[in-house]
Amino acid sequence: MNLVAEICRDIFVRTVIIPIMPLKSKITGKLISFEGSEGSGKSTQIARLAEHLQQIGREVIATREPGGTEIGEQIRNIIVHNSKGDEMCAETELLLFAAARAQVVREVIAPALTRGAIVLSDRFLDSSTVYQGIARNLAPDPVNQINRFAVGNVMPHLTIVIDVPTEVGLARVRQRASDLPDRMERENIEFYDKVREGYLLLAQQWPERVVVIDGTKTADAIEKKIWTAVSDRLG
Ligand code: TMP
Repeated sequence: MNLVAEICRDIFVRTVIIPIMPLKSKITGKLISFEGSEGSGKSTQIARLAEHLQQIGREVIATREPGGTEIGEQIRNIIVHNSKGDEMCAETELLLFAAARAQVVREVIAPALTRGAIVLSDRFLDSSTVYQGIARNLAPDPVNQINRFAVGNVMPHLTIVIDVPTEVGLARVRQRASDLPDRMERENIEFYDKVREGYLLLAQQWPERVVVIDGTKTADAIEKKIWTAVSDRLG
């Protein structure tokens, strides 16, 4: 078994049951998270899915992590754009992502789910499992515990991983002429290979929740696959 697979096995197998702080509200909506490496095309597909869902009369809230709230956007700025960013240790990074997540869950996601809305989140707790736990090699127990503490009882009903080979994703990021790569985008190819492998292992571990979609297909073909996965689960 290679190193990444071993770390993943630890993360998945050694999930500790810790007391979580339940959110007071009763959840009737659905949370769909989108995951994948840089350049996987999540944003395009979130916009397309939101349109489909609105067309069938559902209330849709789209949010992103880190971010989605004023506090979360400030935290995002510290993580990805801070001038001292390269000096940030992995533990700080994990806690900052978790802090932004705790805020968006309580301020945006839980209230929307209580109203019966469908929430589309560009990244959620699996990003911390994969980026901080697997790619940054942080110990699995604290990553799991911090994740669970941040989300309370809000877990995705469905997670869509858009999978692209590392070189394809990074080439797409480089083509975005908008600005210089941020701190996360400056990571090397081995880091992103671990991210990709982590997501694929995650899907094996939770096949009922996590669906992998081939992100090298056309945007229309990906949209169709996602719609099938979502409508199957909306009932
Ligand atoms: P984005 O560019 O997809 O919006 O994500 C911002 C970056 O933050 C991306 O490189 C993934 C990373 N990230 C983590 O490392 N851990 C997390 O928990 C989250 C939510 C994002």
